Amino acid sequence: MNILVVGGGGREHAIIKKLKENKQVEVIYALPGNGGYGEDAVCVPVKATDIEGIVKFATENAIDFAVVAPDDPLVLGAVDALEEQGIACFGPRANAAIIEGSKVFSKDLMKKYGIPTAKYESFDDLESALAYLESAPIPTVIKADGLALGKGVIIAETREDAKTAVREMMAGGKFGKSGERIVIEEFLEGPEVSVLSFTDGKTVKPMISSMDHKRALDGDKGLNTGGMGTVAPNPHYTKEVADRCMKEIFLPTVKAMNAEGRTFKGCLYFGLMITKDGPKVIEYNCRFGDPETQVVLPLLESDLLEIMMATRNGTLEDTPVVFKDGHACCVIMASKGYPESYEKGFEITVPEELKASVYMAGAAKKEGKVVSAGGRVLGATAVAGSLPEAIKGAYKMVEQIGFENAYYRHDIGKRALEGVK
Ligand code: AMP
Ligand code: GLY
Repeated sequence: MNILVVGGGGREHAIIKKLKENKQVEVIYALPGNGGYGEDAVCVPVKATDIEGIVKFATENAIDFAVVAPDDPLVLGAVDALEEQGIACFGPRANAAIIEGSKVFSKDLMKKYGIPTAKYESFDDLESALAYLESAPIPTVIKADGLALGKGVIIAETREDAKTAVREMMAGGKFGKSGERIVIEEFLEGPEVSVLSFTDGKTVKPMISSMDHKRALDGDKGLNTGGMGTVAPNPHYTKEVADRCMKEIFLPTVKAMNAEGRTFKGCLYFGLMITKDGPKVIEYNCRFGDPETQVVLPLLESDLLEIMMATRNGTLEDTPVVFKDGHACCVIMASKGYPESYEKGFEITVPEELKASVYMAGAAKKEGKVVSAGGRVLGATAVAGSLPEAIKGAYKMVEQIGFENAYYRHDIGKRALEGVK
């Protein structure tokens, strides 16, 4: 089979490595992929947001199955466009990807169907938003409606900061069109858990839970990033929490999307907060998380391609989704300076024996060498029988990888270890 994967980060590299375990897979094309994928995929220079280019490539290269991984092509309708040409896909259609593409949509959906989430109001004019802030409980959370590369969320500790954030979003054009509508919501407290799930629109099969580390610096300080590391499973996601989530959140969400005529097929990502009143939804994503995927898929025992095809065919109920009884830790090596400005072009060397569990992201090929070319450059994942061993293993890998300009956090998994007590 010829497979196409849209995207070019560490998440896509983890998906590609897992898909390759299926013996039927002959070639995997990555659009655009990156220079660090090596033998794992044939990288084709078509941007992930170039929907026409993706469809043209797929139809000209006898693609049997396409996986659309990032949020923007999903929201732009890549799956709709590919399926119109008869190419089966993994991923939601645009009318379902809106669950991530519009915060106002997802908040209204949760309110309408009684799915637990933070209380909120939405606004499309600045004056009403500012007036509401006069009496809103502080701290408060302000979110741009549209996609904002994970940066459209501000937690304001004072009323003044809240007003500044609202002005910047709605009048300052900080997030372009994404910020013209905003959500102002209640500040929730509790540990966060990421749960990625497979769904065919009827059955939901959650993957092993995980914990992201979004802040740039040790001790969860500094700027928000795309994610500096992950561990799986997440110790806060107990059996009891999982049962509640299935009953109160996962199934109701899938049913709600059906009732709205927006059946969701693909990976539905639940960003949850375990509050004292139970689990609540912080955000939905219409795709695999990055770097959650880099710890979740290495623990997947079942065949990824079969599962992905089942989400499309509506046969997920009869398809095994089984995880290993182990732990994984992924440490992201980024360019020094990320998420602000950084230099590129430093050579990356990964010892041969580590290549199977190193996922390349911001990397390029230059004069036969792999060099850094982005903020988050790679993820090193170790799988072990216990969390401490997985953490130790991942940091040992980091030490063995050559990358002069690297920055990484030293405490990935520390919070999870504390949670195990
Ligand atoms: P999001 O982009 O929606 O994932 O939000 C980014 C981060 O902001 C989340 O991972 C949370 O840590 C935080 N956050 C979002 N919404 C809330 C909320 N209502 N209360 C507290 N923290 C929040
Ligand atoms: N790691 C968070 C996300 O993928 O949205």
